[in-house]
Amino acid sequence: MKNAVRIAALALLISCFVIAVILCSAGTTVFNGANQCPYNIIVCYTDSAGVSASVSAAPGVSVSVQSLDSDVSLASAVIWGYPGSNVSLSDCISAKLQADLAEFTINGFNNTDFYDISNVNAYNFGITINPLGIYPCPTPSCSIPNITNFCQAPNTLTGPLGDGCYNTDGPNVTSPTPGTTAFAYACPDAVSYTTDATGKVFACSTGSNYEVVFSCS
Ligand SMILES: *[C@@H]1O[C@H](CO)[C@@H](O)[C@H](O)[C@H]1NC(C)=O
Ligand SMILES: *[C@@H]1O[C@H](CO)[C@@H](O)[C@H](O)[C@H]1NC(C)=O
Ligand SMILES: *[C@@H]1O[C@H](CO)[C@@H](O)[C@H](O)[C@H]1NC(C)=O
Ligand SMILES: *[C@@H]1O[C@H](CO)[C@@H](O)[C@H](O)[C@H]1NC(C)=O
Repeated sequence: MKNAVRIAALALLISCFVIAVILCSAGTTVFNGANQCPYNIIVCYTDSAGVSASVSAAPGVSVSVQSLDSDVSLASAVIWGYPGSNVSLSDCISAKLQADLAEFTINGFNNTDFYDISNVNAYNFGITINPLGIYPCPTPSCSIPNITNFCQAPNTLTGPLGDGCYNTDGPNVTSPTPGTTAFAYACPDAVSYTTDATGKVFACSTGSNYEVVFSCS
């Protein structure tokens, strides 16, 4: 009888441990891409470990883009999108210069993830980074209502693949110009030139998952 009680207690202990591990999903970071545009988009992913992905997302659908071992410190992971139906890693790489980016450092300093939205190269879709954390974390967002209307000189429309607006000065300057300031006004939460990081990099504890929401207008 005593043995049976001991075995039952041990079994309970083990199952509690297994449930705790599943609930905390320890050591994993999941990235999803949600498509709020009225047409199909391709969600693209690369990271500094050399992993890449190209995933199709129908209107209104949230797709799983990548799952990482967050026990490993990752220098950077980047997610962006372009309008299209065919998944293609080479098209993803071409579209990257014509898109705004959701940028992540996973398990950085002090077991913290850092993330931002970058318009340094260009803007094509509205992006909101929605952390699915243990504690509430900041949800930066950038949305430009009418790209054609917004995109004035020196900035220029990209055309396909991205169908966005180039931030002409963004990659080349370390202080604001009229061109980068147009992006900064439209999207105060987003990085508008290479060193424009103050107040635009957000933090959440490592172990959180992230949904990048794409929108069109
Ligand atoms: C998408 O793939 C289909 C089938 O392979 C092809 O016919 C079509 O041209 C592709 N579209 C684009 C935009 O690449
Ligand atoms: C490290 O993270 C913890 C919890 O997120 C926070 O309370 C603490 O202030 C951070 N320490 C430093 C040095 O940033
Ligand atoms: C966007 O702006 C352009 C140029 O001003 C205008 O022609 C177009 O109708 C606008 N589109 C929408 C959807 O408002
Ligand atoms: C600005 O940066 C882009 C992208 O990095 C590059 O292609 C372009 O040549 C640069 N322009 C100038 C004037 O430096």
